[in-house]
Amino acid sequence: MTALVNQAIEAYRPSAHYTAENTWLNDPNGLIFHAGVYHLFYQSNPFGDVWGNMSWGHAVSENLLDWKELPVAIACDDDEAIFSGSVVFDATNSSGLGTAAIPPMVAVYTSAYSESSSRHGIQAQSLAYSLDDGLTWTKYQANPVLDRGSADFRDPKVFLYEADGASYWVMVAVEAMERKVVLYKSDNLIDWSHLSDFGPANATAGVWECPDLFALPHEADPSLSKWVLTVNMNPGGINGGSAGQYFIGEFDGTTFLSETTVTEGPEDPERLAEYQWLDWGRDYYAAVSFSNAPDGRRIMIGWMNNWDYANLIPSSPWRGPMAYPREITLTSVNGQPRLRQRPVAAGSAEAIPASLEGSASLLDSGSQTFSLGSGTAKVITVELKSDGSSDVGFILHGEGNGQTVITVNPAQGTLSLDRRESGKTAFAENFASIETANLASATSAASAMERISLTIIVDACSVEIFAEDGLTTLTDLVFPEQPYTQLTVTASQGQAELLSFAVAG
Ligand code: FRU
Repeated sequence: MTALVNQAIEAYRPSAHYTAENTWLNDPNGLIFHAGVYHLFYQSNPFGDVWGNMSWGHAVSENLLDWKELPVAIACDDDEAIFSGSVVFDATNSSGLGTAAIPPMVAVYTSAYSESSSRHGIQAQSLAYSLDDGLTWTKYQANPVLDRGSADFRDPKVFLYEADGASYWVMVAVEAMERKVVLYKSDNLIDWSHLSDFGPANATAGVWECPDLFALPHEADPSLSKWVLTVNMNPGGINGGSAGQYFIGEFDGTTFLSETTVTEGPEDPERLAEYQWLDWGRDYYAAVSFSNAPDGRRIMIGWMNNWDYANLIPSSPWRGPMAYPREITLTSVNGQPRLRQRPVAAGSAEAIPASLEGSASLLDSGSQTFSLGSGTAKVITVELKSDGSSDVGFILHGEGNGQTVITVNPAQGTLSLDRRESGKTAFAENFASIETANLASATSAASAMERISLTIIVDACSVEIFAEDGLTTLTDLVFPEQPYTQLTVTASQGQAELLSFAVAG
């Protein structure tokens, strides 16, 4: 019996995504590359498979693909839960929490105070530090370091701002209910002074959470860089529930000025699809970027889940995978700045050789079925050409019933994912859904799109689509009754040509 139960649980365990061994997880926290190792801390319930007892779990990897779980890094206690935050390497020991010889790693996290605390009901920012490269952590004895007396002040992301000879720490956090990102500065990570606020702007239906702010060089000309502010919001995302939006603009060390704001102040729901989204699916939330990633790369990881049903997904006792890590670059579409997100290649490109490389196929109201092989994780890359009159469908399925349908509609410039028949859906009443994304390149020409590329990562309980070389992404969880081992490609009418097709897995 136990073996059967375990098999059912493990059927949804992905192989190319991080999951905790036996426990609940939500947001990634404290992402940092340090001493040759990627650290992934995360919101963990060390004692259960649903949200609670919030502490920082910990995993490490050298390639962002193979992760090793370590003991809980920062544990909740009677007085506080340890909510989301970030980690910096304090190389100059500006905080005095280490020594010149052993500079500390410093975690800046949100203390969510419990009933037994004199600060009950407050959220404030606190520190913990590590003098052994992130293995063990000590809470700073004079916590919290920043208390606004607010019940919804959380999720600090800290980075070192360096420009024109100036160098200081900047914190972006949220006043969640006010839909504001608040910015602070410090010379020592302990004493903080207010710089400015950003928001409300664009999508504001839900609380704002887990912000990030970073400079990004332009792909075409690295000397041109812009600043990117990402803000996660729950609920009210583009396809329901939790989602992340972003703004692109300038940061002068004090104020972030957005060039991409469509709506100032309260949201205009009519415009939801005009805002810029990190992902158009339902399962990409709380994404934040690594500090100190090698070669100046900007790599983000999101939590692959949605607060609409996060506690109910059928994978107990582990619950909640992380999304596949993404490398973020800055590009332009129609003269407007825009992010490109590609799955990181670190390790994986070599580790998963193409097992099937497709001959180009012509489709005319027909279909072709390809085997996806027996591996758990599969990376499918497709380039197709359409005469504009045809919907092209990519149907993921096994031998029996159950399918996830990805559709590209070149005439309308949309990409959708339909998981209504994907397998187990009844565990939450709002899980079965179809998500639609507006393709970015569709906005650049009134005529139908000619070519589109897709990279699709399928891994036990998830489908992540990177369309148009990462200009548009769509991520959804699925719980197939039997693994998806085949892909059927269909063209509804007209002509569509599969220019290339490859599966690695
Ligand atoms: C986002 C969030 C954060 C908070 C954490 C608590 O998913 O609500 O705002 O810090 O989760 O687990």
